[in-house]
Amino acid sequence: MNAREPIHLTVNQNILEMEYAVRGPIPRRAAELRQQGRETILCNIGNPQALGQKPITYYRQVLSLVEDPAKIDRERALEKRWKTDGGPPAGLGDIERVSEHVLKVSEQFLSNMKSGLGAYSESNGPLFIREAIARFIDKRDGVDTTHGSPSNPDGIFVTNGASEGAKYVIDLLIADPKDGIMIPIPQYPLYSATIKKSGGTQVNYYPDEDSGWVLNRSILEEALSAARRDGIRVKGLVVIHPGNPTGAILGAETIREIIDFARDNEIVLIADEVYQENTYGATFTSFAKVLGREEVPLFSLHSISKGFYGECGHRGGYLEVRNPPKAAGTPLSFTEILLKQASVCLCPNTAGQLLMYLVVNPPEEGSEPYRLFAQEKQTILTDLWDKATLIREGFKHMDQVECFGRTGAMYLFPRLNKLPVGTTDFDYCMNLLETTGLCTVNGSGFGQKEGTHHLRIAFLPPKKLIERVLPRWIEFHNAYVNR
Ligand SMILES: Cc1ncc(COP(=O)(O)O)c(C=O)c1O
Repeated sequence: MNAREPIHLTVNQNILEMEYAVRGPIPRRAAELRQQGRETILCNIGNPQALGQKPITYYRQVLSLVEDPAKIDRERALEKRWKTDGGPPAGLGDIERVSEHVLKVSEQFLSNMKSGLGAYSESNGPLFIREAIARFIDKRDGVDTTHGSPSNPDGIFVTNGASEGAKYVIDLLIADPKDGIMIPIPQYPLYSATIKKSGGTQVNYYPDEDSGWVLNRSILEEALSAARRDGIRVKGLVVIHPGNPTGAILGAETIREIIDFARDNEIVLIADEVYQENTYGATFTSFAKVLGREEVPLFSLHSISKGFYGECGHRGGYLEVRNPPKAAGTPLSFTEILLKQASVCLCPNTAGQLLMYLVVNPPEEGSEPYRLFAQEKQTILTDLWDKATLIREGFKHMDQVECFGRTGAMYLFPRLNKLPVGTTDFDYCMNLLETTGLCTVNGSGFGQKEGTHHLRIAFLPPKKLIERVLPRWIEFHNAYVNR
């Protein structure tokens, strides 16, 4: 029997055209090399546990108990035995011991969740998780009865990662191909891809690389004026803070300028703050904090994927909405429409919700799990800083490589000032991969000022691996650019 020809269908052109370089041709080639038995080092994506970062013990203890509540009774029985025996059985260290605190947090979570992790929850996440998020935001931003504006749990949506929250907002804002969203260049390609998929217009603004990726009002005004000249109605402004891929960390004054710009031009702000813990000693100031009681629409995003938590695969995050705009032509409020969007997929996954709850509700100083938690957190963040510093040092030995700004987020974005004539940063990254096994992403995947070339490297692999590959990268670089 002849096989029938598959039917031919036209497909969504926007989906065909959208791009996502961090999973693009270079990582795909890396996968092929791995299949051939070559060692590759995956620095193309901020996925810490894929590069050996250990999960935080506290998070996983609670997660495993909540997933399998029968373990709570078993742990309690074990605890009794340890007490009567005067210590843990041989071979079991203190680290394996689940503390009373962890048992209680797990029980409380289960009792609040009512039906455990196996049932759908509310589409925006249960109220007790949203209340915990609101308390976290207020504590982080120093909100009290005299300072700032308290976070409202009704404006919080627990999501499957920050990506989902960003998509909800952008999908909702774009009603027409001439609707524009301003994004930084370079940017994290979630934004360009989502705008493309929604059928809107990407409006680029360019933080000043040579001054350390400085952003100010005149940069934003310039981009807005150019867009308006082209008939684009700019509705939203995305700020990634700290920046991916640049690592730039914004100060309160810059945030103030951005808010003023948004207010004066009736543009909503989308503040992607997923790297708020990755500032390595610099102070993180949130957009919500600077906004205070001012009534500018603000959508803030956070995630369990980054910081020291690194729980990318569990897909958890939140979107906080302040001062939602009015939606024209409908009695529904903006928040009600967001809830409608969230309800289409029923609910965010419950393991991600639990981890988000734990991220915003860490063990307090003096509690039993605190010491290990604080130690693991400190080790991860110090290690990240050390690895970034090591790679930055390496750039000094590479011909005409410059890396601007301070270290933030999980990436370095060096500029390649010299490349062989007729080649691009894509060619460089592909050759770097073939020669050394190091998988990075070409700057053009994030967008960059015309005529410049970059690459992005995630500073996540173990230090020893970086130390081993760095001399090979330096050797490759100097030979490649001078060939
Ligand atoms: C700036 C930025 N926002 C959002 C995300 C995605 O976060 P999530 O895993 O929570 O969807 C990433 C991931 O790398 C990112 O770099």
